[in-house]
Amino acid sequence: MGNNLNFEDTDTILTEDRLFPPPSDVVENANITAYMRSKGFNDYESFYQWSLENRFEFWEDMAKELHWFEPWTKTFEWTEKPFFKWFTGSKFNIVYNCLDRHLESETRHKVAFYWEGDDGSNRTLTYEQLYVLTNRMAKALQNLGIQKGDRVAIYMPAIPEQVAALLAVARLGAVHTVIFGGFAANALRERINDAGAKVVITADGNYRGGKHIQLKKITDEALEETPTVEKVLVVRRLDSEINMQEGRDFYLDELFKEIPEDTVVPCEPMDSEDLLYILYTSGSTGKPKGVVHVQAGYAVGTYTTTKFVFDMKPEDVYWCSADIGWVTGHSYIVYGPLMNGATSVLFEGTPSYPAPDRWWSIIEKFKVSIFYSSPTGIRGLMRFGEEWPAKHDLSSLRVLGSVGEPINPEAWMWYRRNIGRDELPIMDTWWQTETGAILISPTVILPLKPGSASRPFPTIEADIVDKNGKAVGENKGGFLIVRHPWPSQMRTIYRDPARYQTYWDTIPDVYFAGDAATKDQDGYFRVQGRVDDVIKVSGHRLGSMEIESSLVSHPAVAEAAAIGKPDEVKGEHVKVFVILKDGHEASDEMEKTLKLHVRTNVGPLAVPDELEFVPSLPKTRSGKIMRRVIRARELGEPVGDTSTLDA
Ligand code: WTA
Repeated sequence: MGNNLNFEDTDTILTEDRLFPPPSDVVENANITAYMRSKGFNDYESFYQWSLENRFEFWEDMAKELHWFEPWTKTFEWTEKPFFKWFTGSKFNIVYNCLDRHLESETRHKVAFYWEGDDGSNRTLTYEQLYVLTNRMAKALQNLGIQKGDRVAIYMPAIPEQVAALLAVARLGAVHTVIFGGFAANALRERINDAGAKVVITADGNYRGGKHIQLKKITDEALEETPTVEKVLVVRRLDSEINMQEGRDFYLDELFKEIPEDTVVPCEPMDSEDLLYILYTSGSTGKPKGVVHVQAGYAVGTYTTTKFVFDMKPEDVYWCSADIGWVTGHSYIVYGPLMNGATSVLFEGTPSYPAPDRWWSIIEKFKVSIFYSSPTGIRGLMRFGEEWPAKHDLSSLRVLGSVGEPINPEAWMWYRRNIGRDELPIMDTWWQTETGAILISPTVILPLKPGSASRPFPTIEADIVDKNGKAVGENKGGFLIVRHPWPSQMRTIYRDPARYQTYWDTIPDVYFAGDAATKDQDGYFRVQGRVDDVIKVSGHRLGSMEIESSLVSHPAVAEAAAIGKPDEVKGEHVKVFVILKDGHEASDEMEKTLKLHVRTNVGPLAVPDELEFVPSLPKTRSGKIMRRVIRARELGEPVGDTSTLDA
């Protein structure tokens, strides 16, 4: 995996020694404390050690809290390594656990989502209303020909119909693939084609940060070369004029005229290992990979982590500010919270529109008690000053969270001080699209260290090793690995199992996460960043290759290399180095043209902040561009092993 495996051990000097112990009443009332006590433990250390030796008992306990049409016969099977299975022999549907089950209790009338649009409009949906919407959408999809196992692409803004779309697809036993609304037509097309989607669900458009995004127009462009797509379901968000192709495109509200409110489409009873979704993410090389998650194990993992990491209680109002187009939205906007019967906020807009207190005003308005956000979001709003959060009553908050990239201690402290009134715990959660759910994170009972994701979740055996798999010891840099599969782990890469295997054979027999990290004397992890060619721009995961191939598709470009550079707000930004073909001149005009080209090809999130024209690029003798060398030179760092460099 990647060509940067020559990661050299870097002794990290730990300058961060502040420790924030949890308040005793928080510990006393925590969900995790109740479970620990039921197992006879009073401290996390001995409980965690027990969980490593009794991982199946732990996950069985959790699975028993969910609804199964038929119980599992085997908890775990690992006969064909590295492929594994959880909860086999069962019949299960995650959507039954998100919706149907709650209709039998008071949760039926509880708010599932408070929605706020970019334009300030609001909608509120109870569990019952979300159930009705989901069933009608499932019926509409059925009428369009969707059956168990079919793939459905979802390219939508953050509106309640987006949540219902995922649930409707999964209810039918079909497989969703959500594509982030910030991707351009080419990126959308590539994902639709890889998944072989039969139906696309989109919207006529939406507003983001006050700007009109023409989702349907982008969809139409993508659909010019998508042989598997038969129908398009369009949700009206703006009532804007769009092109509707006769026989292919259908408005949801028009189909609803024929689908009464009391329509019920029963949940398809699925095998535990049947596909739930494919989510495309960037790897170190090549095309985006379709990470595959399955019904039962994924449900158990996201249910459990939501309950313990965020300490989710029935009276909480929870808000995860991520987008459903990324894994954080799948696990911690849709599935985890709904299985827990939570009341959530869903927000369509951006943090600083119309003003830099948009997030804080939403927390005040809906009395949010658990807020799960990102380092980029926090750093971006820090710039505007403390006066913006100070204008709002944030006293409803009790737990904060962070995900997507390392949170630097300065941003951590600002978050705690200004949003958490100097007392709230911050759950810095480390995980990945591939892991499906949080793997390293505090729970509310752990003492916290700024900038550290703290300790592995129960049963998770994480470590820091060198390239031979040998543990490096305390406070030494190395590769972050995990030793045993957990229920919500990806099962394969869609249509590319060989690519999946590289995760387990880069360092033999352990899961290789692709991150560099350290572990201190207290077992606290500090994740430093990727060791491959994945770039994290504002927490969004991009591959160098995607940006490079988009650049070389421009007629003026001969070769290109993309790297991530440290960025105060975004964590990293993209810098590209471009070799022009003969007959093309380097100029400001050319720079603008190429940036626009990336924007229209991959999407706004991939546009490089810096572009440099160069006469040559360092390469290996076999002709591969050495991004590691380019990056080291750019940042003035030691270049490392260059024995394969074609000097
Ligand atoms: C990074 C996002 C440090 C890491 C859920 C990982 C983090 C990649 C953290 C996965 C964190 C995520 N601290 N780094 N708390 N959380 N990362 O697939 O590099 O979009 O490998 O999943 O994000 O990104 P992905």
